[in-house]
Amino acid sequence: MILRKPLEQSLAAVKKAFPKAKPRLGMILGSGLSDIADSFEPLGVLSYEKIPGLGKAGVAGHAGRLVWGKSAGVETFVFQGRRHYYEGVGWEAVATPLFLLKSLGAKAVFLTNAAGGTNPKWKPGDLMIIDDHINMMGVTPLLGQHDPFWGPRFPDQSFIYDRKLRAALSRAGKKSKVALRHGVYFAGTGPTYETPAEIRAWRALGADAVGMSTVPEAMLANAAGLRVVGLSCITNMAAGILNQALTHQEVFDTSQKAMASMKKLILQFWKELAKETL
Ligand code: HPA
Repeated sequence: MILRKPLEQSLAAVKKAFPKAKPRLGMILGSGLSDIADSFEPLGVLSYEKIPGLGKAGVAGHAGRLVWGKSAGVETFVFQGRRHYYEGVGWEAVATPLFLLKSLGAKAVFLTNAAGGTNPKWKPGDLMIIDDHINMMGVTPLLGQHDPFWGPRFPDQSFIYDRKLRAALSRAGKKSKVALRHGVYFAGTGPTYETPAEIRAWRALGADAVGMSTVPEAMLANAAGLRVVGLSCITNMAAGILNQALTHQEVFDTSQKAMASMKKLILQFWKELAKETL
């Protein structure tokens, strides 16, 4: 169940700070990916602390700012840092960016994350277009009393990751010469990383990348009628694939190494978007 009050307070705060904002789409930046916001010409910046539903981002590597910006002339809300279910403060902080986007008339959201690679042929630094996902969180943000803001009671999930936007992202990859993989993102709750046995099991179930985010946002966006596109930065091989422990530092360091490619890709993708009727 997602409480409406903090979401509506957030909308009021954003409208007050950016009265002219009309974002066509949004972008949520995952762990270590905040610098992607440099690809946008800023029109305004608002700290999450001033947005009641978002509050202070609690995780290292997440800047905690909403950047209102433009790239290729496409007005965008860039959420520099995300809130997670594992922070234990409910779904409102996870849902707020999507509530803001939908309420302000945006048509799409670009979700990014840092993820562990379960595909042994891949390597850290690889980038993956999310074709579909598997929710292993055991919960969904849509549990509880139905709120029609988030679509019908039983949202269809056959086409969460928009085919045209994925094709546009592939095109952007080719034009910017950034290699892209395709795969299935698998979400657990975190905050623990997985055990090697879990990774073997999840791989057998169809995971290419594993993480602790994105899926609830994709479910909410899809239910609310926003088009979704997603990109995972494979920051490490998932547990047990290499004979070494996982650390947040490794996740952060790899995301920084992949940053130049991601920025190039994003700049080109926004050029592709400028041609799309969003
Ligand atoms: N597992 C879960 N979440 C992650 C990982 C991982 O290996 N890497 C980055 N986020």
